[in-house]
Amino acid sequence: MYSRPFQAGEKVQLTDAKRRHFTIELVPGGQFHSHKGIVEHDEIIGAEEGTVVTSTLGADYLCFRHLLVDHVLSMPRGAAVIYPKDAAQILVEGDIYMGARVLEAGAGSGALSMSLLRAVGPEGTVFSYEVREDHLEYARANVAEYFGEEPAWWQPRLGDFGAVTREDLGGPVDRLILDMVEPWHFIDTVKQLLIPGGVFMTYVATVPQLMNIMESIREAKCFTEPRAWETLLREWKVEGLATRPEHRMNAHTAFLVWTRRLADGVTPPRPQRKARR
Ligand SMILES: C[S@@+](CC[C@H](N)C(=O)[O-])C[C@H]1O[C@@H](n2cnc3c(N)ncnc32)[C@H](O)[C@@H]1O
Repeated sequence: MYSRPFQAGEKVQLTDAKRRHFTIELVPGGQFHSHKGIVEHDEIIGAEEGTVVTSTLGADYLCFRHLLVDHVLSMPRGAAVIYPKDAAQILVEGDIYMGARVLEAGAGSGALSMSLLRAVGPEGTVFSYEVREDHLEYARANVAEYFGEEPAWWQPRLGDFGAVTREDLGGPVDRLILDMVEPWHFIDTVKQLLIPGGVFMTYVATVPQLMNIMESIREAKCFTEPRAWETLLREWKVEGLATRPEHRMNAHTAFLVWTRRLADGVTPPRPQRKARR
């Protein structure tokens, strides 16, 4: 799907001089209309990616295929997605590796599913549990659109994460990620499903959620002392003497929580810190 001239039926992102994006599906004989004139699809079909086309009124458009981030930010969604800056943290800090068996819940709109599927590759498995049928449909459609079809190494499943057993998965998983409102209710399920040494990460939006999940992990006494952080991403405008941070940023998406499963029968080596209430 990459590194070849554009073909009919593919989606192309046109970017104008003001960096506005327009996504079109290439149809032989088709046209893209805007107040800046008309672009013939036939001028794009057969051209190399990164080409520039000019409309009938002289406007230039850059032509590229969607990257994963473009797809995630533009796709239809039933539930809020994990943003690329946080998905990147999950892939690296969560140690998602080629061939890993990974479980995520809920699948939501499928944004994280796509990053996980690319990272584990065909030798791995991603189990994506989602309790809402309509959300799972969004996830399935978004993943299928991105990969061209549902990857064979993906297991999208309708169901409550709290009811999942090792038997359902054919054994424990190596990595487990929860993105849901009350993940602290499922610590025992995480303990059952995660292999000793496995990484468990959660994504929570608010401070009370963060406090609850941290305390639940500590109280379970089968995980390492959890870490919590957030990632702030600030773009910069770099233009000569006007170089400075952008005025606006997405100041908050969510907190990430990270811990690792201890071996069975082991108590955490350090005394658990008692939180002040
Ligand atoms: C914020 S969304 C997940 C978004 C997803 N990570 C993404 O990047 O597109 C949270 C989802 O968790 C689902 N959910 C909540 N509790 C659940 C449970 N016990 N088992 C499975 N899914 C659950 C909700 O229905 C919702 O779709």
